[in-house]
Amino acid sequence: MNEIEFNRHRRLRRSSGLRAMVRESVLRKEDLIYPIFVVEGENVKNEVPSMPGVHQVSLDYLKEEMDKLEARGILSVIVFGVPAHKDDCGTEAYTENGIVQRAIRQIKEENPSLTVIADTCLCQYTDHGHCGVIDNGIILNDSSLELLTKTAVSQAKAGADVIAPSNMMDGFTAAIRKGLDEAGFSDIPVMSYAVKYASAFYGPFRDAAHSSPSFGDRKTYQMDPPNRLEALREAKSDVSEGADFLIVKPALSYLDIVREVKNETGLPVVAYNVSGEYAMIKAAAQNGWIDEKEVVMEKLTSMKRAGADLIVTYFALDAAKWIVEDH
Ligand code: PBG
Ligand code: ZN
Repeated sequence: MNEIEFNRHRRLRRSSGLRAMVRESVLRKEDLIYPIFVVEGENVKNEVPSMPGVHQVSLDYLKEEMDKLEARGILSVIVFGVPAHKDDCGTEAYTENGIVQRAIRQIKEENPSLTVIADTCLCQYTDHGHCGVIDNGIILNDSSLELLTKTAVSQAKAGADVIAPSNMMDGFTAAIRKGLDEAGFSDIPVMSYAVKYASAFYGPFRDAAHSSPSFGDRKTYQMDPPNRLEALREAKSDVSEGADFLIVKPALSYLDIVREVKNETGLPVVAYNVSGEYAMIKAAAQNGWIDEKEVVMEKLTSMKRAGADLIVTYFALDAAKWIVEDH
């Protein structure tokens, strides 16, 4: 008999069987969304220097990449276009034969069971690298909405299954929802980047997508990292504007926000495990300082525990393999 009474939590940790039985959060292959970067040209497979294992690929490599996803049991891909030509109003974002429109059409033709998510923004397509149109150094809200809506509709016409606007203009969800409805796409869901912070963790992505702003920064439209209540206001706006999914981005430094957005809205919540989060783990793993598999699985599972239903991650292919190995 014990002299002092206390609880024996360790009873449920005694064996791997017991631990598996009481595990509260589980990462599934179905939760993973894989980002790809498509570029013009042929026979292009450029590794992004700050993102080992991530490539920009030309369309002739697309099927090979998509077959790999299917073989691993991943259901969905988010497509980023890197156009050959940029101008001040981002024309290549909404032309019928833009790089992203062709990529979407091709995936739906060659790998029709994959769910294709189109990232809807202008920054890869504008010569100034901002996510909207500019006048005198100011990023204009409402005129940007028109071009973003055109972009979303052109992506839906190309066959995108989901539209994911990442531009952080006010009212983008309402504008895009209306534009899609009017164009006959009322069945296409909007996965809104509702809570997107002006984060230093996007650095490697901007190398991959050639989308760094040529002047200034994105702080007048992306959110200020210290803010939490503002994140809830952003999320609620998007719910009222008709969003079907809500993205919180980045993931790791913002898991508190993932949890609150999930609790407050009840919508499917997507954590975007961004490029800088990928790069840090890769760098440490390549130095032998951490165990890559263990660290990746722990951090993706922590996003599930925080309330994420889905996770956009450059680790999707590896994670899907590790999930299978461990079961
Ligand atoms: C563009 C966009 C960005 C990311 C996704 N869409 C970069 C940015 O806002 O600068 C970041 C993705 C990542 O870092 O992995 N609107
Ligand atoms: Zn952008």
